Amino acid sequence: MSHHLIDFIDVRYSYPDGSIAVQDLNMKIHHGESVAIVGANGAGKSTMLKLLVGILIAEQGEIRLGDMPVTKKTLNMIRQAVGFTFQDPEDQLFNTSVYNDVAFGPRNYGLEEDEVEKRVLRALKIVGIEHLLHRAPYKLSGGEKRAVSIATVLSMEPNVLAMDEPTAALDPRSRRRLIKLLQGFEHTKLIATHDLDMVLELCSRTIVLKDGRVEYDGPTAEIMKDIQLLEKCGLEQPLIMQGCPICSINK
Ligand SMILES: Nc1ncnc2c1ncn2[C@@H]1O[C@H](COP(=O)(O)OP(=O)(O)O)[C@@H](O)[C@H]1O
Ligand SMILES: [Mg+2]
Repeated sequence: MSHHLIDFIDVRYSYPDGSIAVQDLNMKIHHGESVAIVGANGAGKSTMLKLLVGILIAEQGEIRLGDMPVTKKTLNMIRQAVGFTFQDPEDQLFNTSVYNDVAFGPRNYGLEEDEVEKRVLRALKIVGIEHLLHRAPYKLSGGEKRAVSIATVLSMEPNVLAMDEPTAALDPRSRRRLIKLLQGFEHTKLIATHDLDMVLELCSRTIVLKDGRVEYDGPTAEIMKDIQLLEKCGLEQPLIMQGCPICSINK
Protein backbone atom coordinates (compact mmCIF):
# COMPACT_ATOMS: atom_id res chain seq x y z
CA MET A 1 0.00 0.00 0.00
CA SER A 2 1.19 3.47 -0.79
CA HIS A 3 0.96 5.91 2.09
CA HIS A 4 1.97 8.92 0.13
CA LEU A 5 -1.17 10.93 0.48
CA ILE A 6 -3.85 11.49 3.06
CA ASP A 7 -6.83 12.97 1.31
CA PHE A 8 -9.98 14.40 2.93
CA ILE A 9 -12.59 15.04 0.25
CA ASP A 10 -15.73 17.02 1.25
CA VAL A 11 -15.92 15.25 4.57
CA ARG A 12 -18.81 15.80 6.93
CA TYR A 13 -19.64 14.14 10.22
CA SER A 14 -22.35 14.77 12.77
CA TYR A 15 -22.80 12.90 16.03
CA PRO A 16 -26.00 10.90 16.69
CA ASP A 17 -27.47 13.84 18.64
CA GLY A 18 -27.37 15.81 15.39
CA SER A 19 -24.55 18.24 16.18
CA ILE A 20 -22.35 18.74 13.14
CA ALA A 21 -18.76 18.21 14.22
CA VAL A 22 -16.94 18.70 10.90
CA GLN A 23 -18.10 19.76 7.45
CA ASP A 24 -16.66 20.68 4.05
CA LEU A 25 -13.30 19.25 5.11
CA ASN A 26 -10.89 19.18 2.22
CA MET A 27 -7.18 18.69 2.62
CA LYS A 28 -4.27 16.77 1.17
CA ILE A 29 -1.35 15.81 3.34
CA HIS A 30 1.74 14.43 1.67
CA HIS A 31 4.11 11.82 3.01
CA GLY A 32 6.63 13.29 5.41
CA GLU A 33 4.63 16.41 6.20
CA SER A 34 4.27 17.53 9.79
CA VAL A 35 0.89 19.19 10.20
CA ALA A 36 -0.69 20.81 13.25
CA ILE A 37 -4.46 20.77 13.70
CA VAL A 38 -5.43 23.65 15.98
CA GLY A 39 -8.62 25.37 17.06
CA ALA A 40 -10.69 26.12 20.14
CA ASN A 41 -12.35 23.35 22.14
CA GLY A 42 -15.16 21.86 20.09
CA ALA A 43 -13.64 22.98 16.75
CA GLY A 44 -13.56 19.41 15.43
CA LYS A 45 -9.91 18.36 15.93
CA SER A 46 -10.57 15.05 17.69
CA THR A 47 -13.41 14.19 15.32
CA MET A 48 -11.14 14.79 12.34
CA LEU A 49 -8.44 12.44 13.65
CA LYS A 50 -11.01 9.79 14.60
CA LEU A 51 -12.37 9.94 11.06
CA LEU A 52 -8.86 9.42 9.68
CA VAL A 53 -8.39 6.19 11.64
CA GLY A 54 -11.93 4.95 11.11
CA ILE A 55 -13.10 5.18 14.72
CA LEU A 56 -15.80 7.35 13.15
CA ILE A 57 -16.92 6.93 9.55
CA ALA A 58 -17.67 10.02 7.45
CA GLU A 59 -21.35 10.49 6.70
CA GLN A 60 -20.53 12.41 3.55
CA GLY A 61 -17.42 12.60 1.43
CA GLU A 62 -14.39 10.34 1.58
CA ILE A 63 -11.05 9.96 3.31
CA ARG A 64 -8.26 8.15 1.49
CA LEU A 65 -4.94 6.89 2.68
CA GLY A 66 -2.83 6.38 -0.41
CA ASP A 67 -5.03 4.37 -2.73
CA MET A 68 -7.25 3.03 0.06
CA PRO A 69 -10.50 4.60 1.23
CA VAL A 70 -11.13 4.58 5.00
CA THR A 71 -14.11 2.26 5.41
CA LYS A 72 -15.10 -0.45 7.87
CA LYS A 73 -13.56 -3.02 5.51
CA THR A 74 -10.14 -1.36 5.38
CA LEU A 75 -9.86 -0.63 9.10
CA ASN A 76 -7.22 -3.26 9.84
CA MET A 77 -4.91 -1.92 7.18
CA ILE A 78 -5.59 1.68 8.11
CA ARG A 79 -4.71 1.01 11.75
CA GLN A 80 -1.45 -0.68 10.82
CA ALA A 81 -0.44 2.35 8.81
CA VAL A 82 -1.69 5.09 11.13
CA GLY A 83 -0.71 5.17 14.79
CA PHE A 84 -3.38 7.12 16.65
CA THR A 85 -3.09 8.33 20.23
CA PHE A 86 -6.31 9.40 21.94
CA GLN A 87 -6.78 12.75 23.66
CA ASP A 88 -7.31 10.79 26.88
CA PRO A 89 -4.64 8.07 27.23
CA GLU A 90 -7.04 6.04 29.38
CA ASP A 91 -8.99 5.30 26.21
CA GLN A 92 -5.88 3.57 24.87
CA LEU A 93 -4.82 1.47 27.85
CA PHE A 94 -6.87 -1.54 28.90
CA ASN A 95 -4.41 -4.31 29.75
CA THR A 96 -3.09 -5.32 33.16
CA SER A 97 0.54 -4.42 32.40
CA VAL A 98 2.36 -1.82 30.35
CA TYR A 99 4.09 -4.66 28.49
CA ASN A 100 0.78 -6.17 27.38
CA ASP A 101 -0.63 -2.84 26.31
CA VAL A 102 2.39 -2.07 24.13
CA ALA A 103 2.45 -5.68 22.83
CA PHE A 104 -1.25 -5.64 21.96
CA GLY A 105 -0.96 -4.15 18.46
CA PRO A 106 1.99 -6.28 17.27
CA ARG A 107 0.35 -9.45 18.67
CA ASN A 108 -2.88 -8.59 16.97
CA TYR A 109 -0.91 -8.14 13.77
CA GLY A 110 0.21 -11.78 14.16
CA LEU A 111 3.91 -11.21 14.85
CA GLU A 112 6.00 -13.91 16.58
CA GLU A 113 6.41 -13.38 20.31
CA ASP A 114 10.17 -12.67 20.12
CA GLU A 115 9.55 -9.99 17.49
CA VAL A 116 6.73 -8.62 19.68
CA GLU A 117 9.15 -8.41 22.62
CA LYS A 118 11.76 -6.60 20.54
CA ARG A 119 9.20 -4.06 19.40
CA VAL A 120 7.86 -3.50 22.91
CA LEU A 121 11.31 -2.92 24.36
CA ARG A 122 12.27 -0.62 21.49
CA ALA A 123 9.09 1.45 21.85
CA LEU A 124 9.46 1.77 25.63
CA LYS A 125 13.09 2.81 25.20
CA ILE A 126 12.20 5.49 22.66
CA VAL A 127 9.76 7.13 25.07
CA GLY A 128 12.07 6.52 28.04
CA ILE A 129 9.84 4.31 30.17
CA GLU A 130 11.55 0.90 30.19
CA HIS A 131 11.25 0.96 33.98
CA LEU A 132 7.44 0.89 33.76
CA LEU A 133 7.41 -2.44 31.89
CA HIS A 134 5.63 -4.49 34.54
CA ARG A 135 3.48 -1.75 36.05
CA ALA A 136 -0.30 -1.65 35.85
CA PRO A 137 -1.23 1.18 33.45
CA TYR A 138 -4.20 2.35 35.52
CA LYS A 139 -1.88 3.07 38.46
CA LEU A 140 0.43 5.40 36.53
CA SER A 141 0.48 9.19 36.57
CA GLY A 142 -1.14 11.15 33.72
CA GLY A 143 2.21 11.81 32.04
CA GLU A 144 3.30 8.18 32.39
CA LYS A 145 0.01 7.02 30.86
CA ARG A 146 0.58 9.42 27.99
CA ALA A 147 4.05 7.96 27.41
CA VAL A 148 2.66 4.40 27.42
CA SER A 149 -0.08 5.37 24.97
CA ILE A 150 2.58 6.72 22.61
CA ALA A 151 4.59 3.50 22.98
CA THR A 152 1.49 1.45 22.05
CA VAL A 153 1.45 3.08 18.65
CA LEU A 154 5.24 3.17 18.10
CA SER A 155 5.38 -0.61 18.57
CA MET A 156 3.30 -0.89 15.39
CA GLU A 157 5.98 1.06 13.49
CA PRO A 158 3.35 3.17 11.72
CA ASN A 159 3.84 5.27 8.59
CA VAL A 160 1.65 8.05 9.93
CA LEU A 161 1.34 9.39 13.45
CA ALA A 162 -1.98 11.00 14.35
CA MET A 163 -1.84 12.39 17.87
CA ASP A 164 -4.57 14.10 19.82
CA GLU A 165 -3.18 16.65 22.29
CA PRO A 166 -0.01 14.66 22.93
CA THR A 167 1.61 17.18 25.28
CA ALA A 168 -1.42 17.59 27.57
CA ALA A 169 -0.54 16.45 31.13
CA LEU A 170 3.17 16.18 30.36
CA ASP A 171 5.73 17.79 32.65
CA PRO A 172 8.22 20.09 30.89
CA ARG A 173 10.95 17.47 30.61
CA SER A 174 8.60 14.83 29.20
CA ARG A 175 7.19 17.41 26.81
CA ARG A 176 10.69 18.25 25.58
CA ARG A 177 11.48 14.55 25.17
CA LEU A 178 8.29 14.05 23.14
CA ILE A 179 9.06 17.00 20.88
CA LYS A 180 12.55 15.56 20.22
CA LEU A 181 11.04 12.16 19.56
CA LEU A 182 8.58 13.61 17.07
CA GLN A 183 11.31 15.66 15.38
CA GLY A 184 13.11 12.38 14.73
CA PHE A 185 10.02 10.69 13.27
CA GLU A 186 10.45 11.06 9.53
CA HIS A 187 7.04 9.93 8.39
CA THR A 188 3.83 11.92 8.26
CA LYS A 189 2.63 13.56 11.47
CA LEU A 190 -0.77 15.05 12.25
CA ILE A 191 -0.92 16.64 15.65
CA ALA A 192 -4.07 18.11 17.18
CA THR A 193 -2.97 20.44 19.94
CA HIS A 194 -3.37 23.62 21.97
CA ASP A 195 0.42 23.74 22.44
CA LEU A 196 1.25 26.35 19.82
CA ASP A 197 4.83 26.64 21.03
CA MET A 198 5.28 22.98 20.11
CA VAL A 199 3.62 23.65 16.76
CA LEU A 200 6.21 26.34 16.00
CA GLU A 201 9.00 23.86 16.63
CA LEU A 202 7.51 20.84 14.97
CA CYS A 203 5.03 21.63 12.23
CA SER A 204 5.74 23.68 9.13
CA ARG A 205 2.05 23.56 8.17
CA THR A 206 -0.95 24.40 10.33
CA ILE A 207 -4.63 23.76 9.74
CA VAL A 208 -6.96 25.88 11.87
CA LEU A 209 -10.45 24.51 12.47
CA LYS A 210 -13.35 26.65 13.55
CA ASP A 211 -16.85 25.27 14.07
CA GLY A 212 -15.92 22.14 12.14
CA ARG A 213 -14.57 23.91 9.05
CA VAL A 214 -11.08 24.75 7.84
CA GLU A 215 -10.47 28.41 8.59
CA TYR A 216 -6.80 28.42 7.58
CA ASP A 217 -4.45 25.92 5.96
CA GLY A 218 -0.94 27.11 5.27
CA PRO A 219 2.50 27.87 6.64
CA THR A 220 2.72 27.87 10.45
CA ALA A 221 4.96 30.92 10.37
CA GLU A 222 2.20 32.98 8.76
CA ILE A 223 -0.75 32.01 10.90
CA MET A 224 1.22 32.58 14.09
CA LYS A 225 1.77 36.20 13.05
CA ASP A 226 -1.91 36.76 12.28
CA ILE A 227 -3.17 37.79 15.70
CA GLN A 228 -6.63 38.70 14.41
CA LEU A 229 -7.23 35.34 12.80
CA LEU A 230 -5.87 33.54 15.86
CA GLU A 231 -8.25 35.49 18.08
CA LYS A 232 -11.19 34.85 15.80
CA CYS A 233 -10.49 31.13 16.15
CA GLY A 234 -10.14 31.24 19.93
CA LEU A 235 -6.34 30.99 19.88
CA GLU A 236 -3.40 33.00 21.18
CA GLN A 237 0.05 33.51 19.76
CA PRO A 238 2.69 31.08 21.01
CA LEU A 239 4.23 32.35 24.26
CA ILE A 240 7.64 32.61 22.66
CA MET A 241 6.26 35.18 20.20
CA GLN A 242 4.56 37.27 22.85
CA GLY A 243 6.43 40.10 24.53
CA CYS A 244 8.25 39.33 27.77
CA PRO A 245 5.92 40.43 30.63
CA ILE A 246 8.88 41.15 32.93
CA CYS A 247 11.32 43.07 30.77
CA SER A 248 8.66 44.07 28.18
CA ILE A 249 11.04 43.29 25.38
CA ASN A 250 9.75 41.47 22.33
CA LYS A 251 11.78 38.45 21.34
N1 LIG B 1 -19.57 11.97 21.53
C1 LIG B 1 -20.11 13.11 21.11
N2 LIG B 1 -21.45 13.27 21.03
C2 LIG B 1 -22.01 14.43 20.60
N3 LIG B 1 -21.29 15.51 20.22
C3 LIG B 1 -19.95 15.40 20.29
C4 LIG B 1 -19.28 14.21 20.74
N4 LIG B 1 -17.94 14.41 20.68
C5 LIG B 1 -17.78 15.66 20.23
N5 LIG B 1 -18.97 16.24 19.98
C6 LIG B 1 -19.19 17.61 19.46
O1 LIG B 1 -18.56 17.72 18.18
C7 LIG B 1 -17.89 18.97 18.05
C8 LIG B 1 -16.42 18.74 17.78
O2 LIG B 1 -15.83 18.13 18.92
P1 LIG B 1 -14.33 17.63 18.95
O3 LIG B 1 -14.01 16.96 17.66
O4 LIG B 1 -14.16 16.83 20.20
O5 LIG B 1 -13.55 19.02 19.03
P2 LIG B 1 -12.08 19.36 19.57
O6 LIG B 1 -11.29 18.10 19.60
O7 LIG B 1 -11.56 20.37 18.60
O8 LIG B 1 -12.26 19.95 20.94
C9 LIG B 1 -18.19 19.73 19.34
O9 LIG B 1 -19.30 20.55 19.10
C10 LIG B 1 -18.52 18.65 20.33
O10 LIG B 1 -19.41 19.13 21.31
MG1 LIG C 1 -10.29 17.20 21.12
